Amino acid sequence: MIENLIDLEEVSTDKLETIIKLAGEIKNDPDKYKESCRGKILATLFYEPSTRTQMSFQAAMMRLGGNTIGFDNPMNSSVAKGESLKDTVKIISGYADIIAMRHPAEGAARAASMFSDAPIINAGDGGHLHPTQTLTDIVTLYNEVGRLDHLKIGLCGDLKNGRTVHSLIKTMSHFEGNEFILVSTPDLEVPGYIKSILKASGCRYSELYNLNEAMPVLDVLYMTRIQRERFSSEEEYKRQSGIYVLDTKKLSLGKGSLKVLHPLPRVDEITSDVDKDPRAVYFKQAVYGMYARMALIYLMLNKPVEKKAQRHITENRVHKCDNPSCITRREPYLPNAFKNSGDMLTCLYCDNRMLI
Ligand code: CP
Repeated sequence: MIENLIDLEEVSTDKLETIIKLAGEIKNDPDKYKESCRGKILATLFYEPSTRTQMSFQAAMMRLGGNTIGFDNPMNSSVAKGESLKDTVKIISGYADIIAMRHPAEGAARAASMFSDAPIINAGDGGHLHPTQTLTDIVTLYNEVGRLDHLKIGLCGDLKNGRTVHSLIKTMSHFEGNEFILVSTPDLEVPGYIKSILKASGCRYSELYNLNEAMPVLDVLYMTRIQRERFSSEEEYKRQSGIYVLDTKKLSLGKGSLKVLHPLPRVDEITSDVDKDPRAVYFKQAVYGMYARMALIYLMLNKPVEKKAQRHITENRVHKCDNPSCITRREPYLPNAFKNSGDMLTCLYCDNRMLI
């Protein structure tokens, strides 16, 4: 049976712990795993720019003894001639054993998994989710903080469009006693569906505008970039940029044990003199990402990742998703599909919620 990694909600907490431990074992004894994917091919289909995710996936596969194919600019592939996502994925899944895909449309990885003969890994789908960044983040927290529970976690910046934020909150809400302090402007708050998840999980959370107020109580500060590419105009972006900047003065308000994470790339939200502070672990975090992806690839190719129930897509012919960034808006052959709860429909690709 083909197993995919689209959303970490479909991976049990036990399995997350297996991935974290395996990432540590591989880091400590890389020679033991250097032939473990010999003869296997990873395809990286990157419809959006990337440095860390694409190259850490490629490095991960090579360090496991496998090979890689793929594109980092769809305009150099037959996508430029109008080939659909469905056809591209169908073809490449005949060449590769596993596919890591990044796409600007929300729900694209879910859609790809419907047509692929090889497992799909979501390497970021628009402003929606970035599950392998979350694996990177939890491996970092486990190693640098020492636990994943009972943490006061501050998330700061573009909480609306930051897919790494959405994935991380969803996953960390499963660990006992975590509390979230969400620092953003009112325009860049986390989406409603993420707040609903927090409420349902019983996790405490608060929303703040001022980062200084949050600093003294935090165990973890997760800084994020304002996602320029998700704004409809440069003016809108400029209204939101430059508001949150972590500098050494602000960092001095934090605990000695604080850890500062950032999925990177950064623009101006952390000044470079912060890099020297031992509490800044974002460069280490990027390296943990390679080991997290090695563990994931190893488990997916050698023994399928045990999943909770996967989403089942059943066509809804009456409604269409009204999220303009949803993959169903770009690839019109995709069946519309929703989860129905009361007077709400939730799109099964992008999690957009609509009133019926
Ligand atoms: N963190 C992250 O996704 O970085 P890239 O965009 O460089 O892959």
